Amino acid sequence: MMETPLPKAPEKRQVTAIIFLLLLWEAGSATIKYSVLEERNSGSFVANLAKDLGLGVGELAARGARILSKGNKQYLQLERKSGNLLLKEKLDREELCGDIDPCILHFQMLLKNPVQFIQGELQLQDVNDHAPEFLENEILLKISEGSHPGTSFPLKIAQDLDVGSNTVQNYSISTNSYFHLFTRNHSDGKKYPELVLDQALDREEQPQLRLTLTALDGGSPPRIGTSQVLIVIVDINDNVPEFAQRRYEVQVPENTPIGSLVITVSARDLDAGTHGELSYSFFQYSNQIIQALDFEEIQSYHMEVEASDGGGLSGKCTVAIEVMDINDNAPELTMSLLISDILENSPETVVAVFGILDPDSGNNGKMMCSIQDHLPFLLKPTLENFYTLLTEGALDRESRAEYNITITVTDLGTPRLKTDYNITVRVSDVNDNAPAFTQTSYTLFVRENNSPALHIGSVSATDRDSGTNAQVTYSLLPPQNPHLPLASLVSINTDNGHLFALRSLDYEALQAFEFRVGATDRGSPALSSEALVRVTAPRPAPSWCPGRPSRATW
Ligand SMILES: *[C@@H]1O[C@H](CO)[C@@H](O)[C@H](O)[C@H]1NC(C)=O
Ligand SMILES: *[C@@H]1O[C@H](CO)[C@@H](O)[C@H](O)[C@H]1NC(C)=O
Ligand SMILES: *[C@@H]1O[C@H](CO)[C@@H](O)[C@H](O)[C@H]1NC(C)=O
Ligand SMILES: *[C@@H]1O[C@H](CO)[C@@H](O)[C@H](O)[C@H]1NC(C)=O
Repeated sequence: MMETPLPKAPEKRQVTAIIFLLLLWEAGSATIKYSVLEERNSGSFVANLAKDLGLGVGELAARGARILSKGNKQYLQLERKSGNLLLKEKLDREELCGDIDPCILHFQMLLKNPVQFIQGELQLQDVNDHAPEFLENEILLKISEGSHPGTSFPLKIAQDLDVGSNTVQNYSISTNSYFHLFTRNHSDGKKYPELVLDQALDREEQPQLRLTLTALDGGSPPRIGTSQVLIVIVDINDNVPEFAQRRYEVQVPENTPIGSLVITVSARDLDAGTHGELSYSFFQYSNQIIQALDFEEIQSYHMEVEASDGGGLSGKCTVAIEVMDINDNAPELTMSLLISDILENSPETVVAVFGILDPDSGNNGKMMCSIQDHLPFLLKPTLENFYTLLTEGALDRESRAEYNITITVTDLGTPRLKTDYNITVRVSDVNDNAPAFTQTSYTLFVRENNSPALHIGSVSATDRDSGTNAQVTYSLLPPQNPHLPLASLVSINTDNGHLFALRSLDYEALQAFEFRVGATDRGSPALSSEALVRVTAPRPAPSWCPGRPSRATW
């Protein structure tokens, strides 16, 4: 007789109508109460009314018993002969009562002879024929990564059309290490799922989680419904910007133009959005940086650069800039002592003492010092970066009286830079040359009868020295023949060596004579030399006409 595949235990209860027969004597009426499971087939037995009401067999038919339902719909039918009350159709509790629990359908039985109304109630019992159902397949939940363990997050509930224990009783969540599920009992009788955080979240490690939420009803076995829960971890500014390097080092040539890129520093921040957006600045700003670099002034810079995120956290790094020397300084020469007049014939003599300087470093500041080749001078290093210029030995003014010396200082940088310093050294004269006659001896001819003070010739001497050392004075030297009256015969101009006859010379008396002339310079001491002068009167011409005496005179 049973068609619905319901569990065995409640079977007896289903077929046995539970009778509440209450006789309300004052109203002269009674209410009979039955209970039946929903979804049973039409024709299913509910109760035997005749028996329950204590009526004899045949009385229901005799008195024309009828079942009246409220409204048009007839749920029940009466077998008058047997007195059995049967379901007229399959009844759906959810359709008839929805959320209302208990679900009670009212009916009346009408009897004639005498007329009698009997009130009846049929309670429709819920069967677990619906599963819990979530309205959304996916529930999106945003949770801040800063949430503390123990915080609970309400989830959306599932619907179950059944009532009582057949509706949603419990929720569970798929196994995970972050959350457990708590099912809260609400005063409305419904169960509300809440996620409870078990351990701190870290968006940077796990930005989202997918869990399965299961709703269970209280049926046996329970029916379930599921929904996906997508948990998006919302960033908090829990990461400090971090530079790729704690310390950056860079070398920059000192001639780098203003505005050139020196180095790029970079930091990262694991946070999202503005919490991860970085801006860079100097932690301690120094406006020295926007000046031209000069190795000779500042060799290195240290600065701290700060990266700040949009949430106000910041990180720092150090930048060490080493300025590299460029050979931008030519050597400099500073003359300390310069003697530009040197006496000839002196041994090794100091001409100049000077210092050299190059502010560049390394090879750019190392120097070499030289003068031209083939000069009778030499450079001697004295102290560090000090040199002495000396004559190599005695100089001879008469062979070279002036030297133009170029001192060249070159550094060893790339490119090489050099500095010239020109000095002129003059060699002063020492009276080391005697006057020299142009000839060792001179022969002068006196042809005619000369008149007194006749210019008869000249002698000449030169002196290679200079100045007074070269000024020559001529003189007649005492004759070797003490009888020669030289002083009355000739005179000499002391300045120019011109010789003059002082009287007529008589050939017959004095055919020829000779004497010495001297040349003396005016140097300290004075030097002199001498030459021989021979004066000859020519032999008279042979006599063309005998008897005419010939006579030669000066
Ligand atoms: C509800 O489900 C949880 C597991 O999710 C379980 O531990 C708990 O005992 C259940 N509660 C009831 C009343 O069934
Ligand atoms: C909620 O109610 C059920 C019975 O409906 C009970 O078993 C459970 O312990 C209750 N849970 C809480 C948290 O009170
Ligand atoms: C030295 O230099 C000066 C000036 O340049 C020049 O007049 C002179 O002739 C030079 N002397 C020598 C010996 O080269
Ligand atoms: C030094 O003298 C040389 C040769 O006369 C000349 O080329 C150079 O320019 C001079 N240097 C200086 C600094 O006067």
